[in-house]
Amino acid sequence: MPIDRNELRRVMGHFATGVTVITTMNKDGQMLGLTANAFSSVSLDPPLCLISVDKKAESYGSFEESRVFTVNILASDQEALSRKFAVSGGNKFEGVAYRIGANGAPILNGALAYIECKLYAAYDGGDHTIYLGEVQQAEITESKPLLFFRGGYREIGD
Ligand SMILES: Cc1cc2nc3c(=O)[nH]c(=O)nc-3n(C[C@H](O)[C@H](O)[C@H](O)COP(=O)(O)O)c2cc1C
Repeated sequence: MPIDRNELRRVMGHFATGVTVITTMNKDGQMLGLTANAFSSVSLDPPLCLISVDKKAESYGSFEESRVFTVNILASDQEALSRKFAVSGGNKFEGVAYRIGANGAPILNGALAYIECKLYAAYDGGDHTIYLGEVQQAEITESKPLLFFRGGYREIGD
């Protein structure tokens, strides 16, 4: 019998992660972003990382349209940004401080790190699509990470 989806979500929620906002744009140049914790480093040579995007997300089609995305790793004081980008609809960038990066996607001010990617490959992942990005540019700042564990936001306790 397949595992119940709520139980699967509960079990997966025991894997502590950081929190990112993935940004990109659509064919009209409109900026898009969504909160995501399905992010991983994949390869150093070539430099690759992956994200997994829900096929029902409003931003879904834009990853293959623009063929670029930027992973903004959120800092511990950016929980409100995480909540904002986890709700579909409207212009999520209103009132948000950002700049446009070299790949054309927004970089959020105050992020712990950002990783600018060019789309390298896309794979079917059930109700999600897994996008591999080739890292073009990346930068870190000195701050603490925002964490997500068992359905709640956390901070490193040191
Ligand atoms: C902590 C957290 C992690 C999330 N991780 C992902 C993820 O990895 N992939 C995804 O597609 N949605 C993820 N979501 C849900 C999206 O942020 C949410 O569906 C969002 O509204 C999608 O935005 P859009 O419809 O404007 O594209 C996550 C939400 C939260 C709060």
